[in-house]
Amino acid sequence: MSNRRHLKVEAQHGGPKSVQPNDARTIRLLPGSSSSIEAKAAVRPMTVLDFQKMKNEGRKISMITCYDYSSARAVAQSSVDCILVGDSVAMTMHGYPNTLSATTTMMAMHTAAVARGAPSKFIVGDMPFLSYRKGLKEAMDCVHELMSAGAHSVKLEGVRGHAEIVRHIADSGVPVMGHLGLTPQSVNQLGGMKVQAKTDAAVELLASQARELEDAGCFALVLECVPAEAARKVTELLTIPTIGIGAGPAVSGQVLVYQDLLGLNPSFKPKFLRTYASAFEMIHAALDSYNDDVKRGEFPSENESYS
Ligand code: KIV
Repeated sequence: MSNRRHLKVEAQHGGPKSVQPNDARTIRLLPGSSSSIEAKAAVRPMTVLDFQKMKNEGRKISMITCYDYSSARAVAQSSVDCILVGDSVAMTMHGYPNTLSATTTMMAMHTAAVARGAPSKFIVGDMPFLSYRKGLKEAMDCVHELMSAGAHSVKLEGVRGHAEIVRHIADSGVPVMGHLGLTPQSVNQLGGMKVQAKTDAAVELLASQARELEDAGCFALVLECVPAEAARKVTELLTIPTIGIGAGPAVSGQVLVYQDLLGLNPSFKPKFLRTYASAFEMIHAALDSYNDDVKRGEFPSENESYS
């Protein structure tokens, strides 16, 4: 039986009624389990109501992308609020040059792995390229797969031509996160991964599309690679929270790609990125140390061998 099934929450203050999303509490393994690991972790995923409450109260939302079980376990132990299983998975985990190769099957498989690793986090599942542009049934089939895989909500890019689909998904009881600004699924039409909304007219269009998504029922909106002032304007205009990536500080929260934040992709250095670790170098050094130990006959030692 996995350790996760043995987990018992030992609240430090208050009873179950006072449990907050992502409230750091001590989690101990029950007697009988094979390990005595203690960790800080969320006790329940946040909900769409928490997203709104955080914006209303001026508390920032932190979101991180995640695509696999072992990374999800690390995110689950962190205080990061929520997870996006982004279609950037096509690039970060599968090595494609852009997100156009992501499929519903790929997204559902990664969503399920993340849901198993981070059952205490709110998960947004990204709808892949064209999945919401082929008609309502196809869109709803994709939503069904992602939600069945363990997502709590779905995200899709743009609004022009599919506002009614957004409305239908939201009216079906599935929270929808919008995504405007740089929408990577439109990379060929945008002529590259470029900062958007750089003119007054483009900011007006961004604001009206953001309004359209809010009116269609979105509970939150990602703003990617837009000038900080444009993001501030949209954030003030909307009731729902905005989550920025390359959108400056005047948004309701931030999202970063897991691999970028950890420095697993050292050659990727966009202006907006802050790296919090040098994981690529660390892993590289660890692998070389292992290789050296094997080659020198120093691994395994007697202590690491069965008698
Ligand atoms: O797929 C993704 O990682 C995203 C974020 C960059 C917002 O959409």
